[in-house]
Amino acid sequence: MISKGYNMAITTNQTSPSHNISMAHATFHFPRNFIWGTATSSHQVEGNNTNNNWWAWEQEPGRIIQGHKSGPACDWWGGRWREDFDRAAETGQNAHRFSIEWSRIQPTPDRWDEEALDRYREMLRGLNERGMTSMVTLHHFSDPLWLAEMGGWEDESVIHSFEVYVRKAVEALREYCSLWITINEPNVYAFLGYLLGVFPPGKKDLRATLRVLENMMRAHAVSYQAIHSVQPVAQVGLAFHYRVADPARSWSPFDRGIAGLQSLYFNDLFPLACRDGVFYSPILRKRLPEVKGTQDFIGVNYYTSEFVAFNLLQPGTLFSRQFFPPHADLSDTGMLANEPAGMLRALNWSRKFNLPIIITENGVEDADDHLRPRYLIQHLHQTWRAVNFNWPVRGYFHWSLVDNFEWERGWTQRFGLWELDVETQARRKRPSADLYAEICRENGLSSEMVGRYAPEVLAELFPG
Ligand code: GAL
Repeated sequence: MISKGYNMAITTNQTSPSHNISMAHATFHFPRNFIWGTATSSHQVEGNNTNNNWWAWEQEPGRIIQGHKSGPACDWWGGRWREDFDRAAETGQNAHRFSIEWSRIQPTPDRWDEEALDRYREMLRGLNERGMTSMVTLHHFSDPLWLAEMGGWEDESVIHSFEVYVRKAVEALREYCSLWITINEPNVYAFLGYLLGVFPPGKKDLRATLRVLENMMRAHAVSYQAIHSVQPVAQVGLAFHYRVADPARSWSPFDRGIAGLQSLYFNDLFPLACRDGVFYSPILRKRLPEVKGTQDFIGVNYYTSEFVAFNLLQPGTLFSRQFFPPHADLSDTGMLANEPAGMLRALNWSRKFNLPIIITENGVEDADDHLRPRYLIQHLHQTWRAVNFNWPVRGYFHWSLVDNFEWERGWTQRFGLWELDVETQARRKRPSADLYAEICRENGLSSEMVGRYAPEVLAELFPG
């Protein structure tokens, strides 16, 4: 059991000469230089990404909920990144994670678009001028159409193509960025696109899923070396989606078995390959020595935890059924449950890789912001506990800065600190943006903030 171990600094109101002890409050402080940012991705915010597989997928009937399309998205390609970066900087964020779009940089296999690279350079300079650190993701779910037509990540040739693209991009952008994510959530990309069929290319094929994972491991490894050869000071990692999977009935060996397998294949397969140089494939274990030791930090995306039950009737999900506990604190569309204890478990899990840890995504869909303040506070409280156990957590990126196109769920899920009206492109600040600003500025979370933004969890966090 982890003890509560509160390490609270008592601060008092310093504005009056005499100390007003009734105003005393406690603060969970974070280490100096802690990274406080938000995260976004190219296809979700740029708009008019017509040359990638997601755009094509959106045109197919039935693929996206209610037929939604990314369209102009948040119009970052039209220049609105400027105002959104202003919002981030003005509200105390000191970093931003965004992705660059392969299909823009290399529109066809034999052509580089220098103008696109200039634009990304401008965005990075924009962050720099606002005093913010940038983290660039080189692949966040979307692929150039030409790549998809050549077999995408199923075909081994992607390894070389990705390395060439990464080298080109890093050479162009190294002046303003040294923190790189090669691939965002390879597990989500492979499982949703090739096993569950809800992401392009919509396959349901275990062998293809494993092929994609292996190609992603090898492409990551060669890119890791390429980035370091272009920029020796680079810090390179991946962002892994970590999802707690507990057996529905702890006494059932079937539930325990299936939960263990889900955790192994979804959470562990990829990072273990990066640690050990072994692909622990369920079909044929394979040595991949070139993949060993190819991370400088571990990026963790944590959103929720679930129960898993064995179910013979669900072969499509490998005989498992996932669900949230009956009284879970659910998000708007019921897609996420607010399970903050899972954040500590995700961070604890990350420790086995013996690397600095960065929370590369965490957030919740919540259009009217009734849940987000509590969610944010409770997850940062767990993060603070990890930091105070001396676990090497270096930063936190909230998903997301502004509402954006949420993949197969279109515009039905609102993850932004700012609300977006897609028609007018108007932004409206949600209360959570102010809460996050206070946390970033304070480099900590105080009882007073919790009392104002989520009084319902005050007694839990600050039992007094
Ligand atoms: C992650 C993904 C993001 C965003 C987020 C919220 O899995 O990396 O692009 O969609 O989920 O659902």
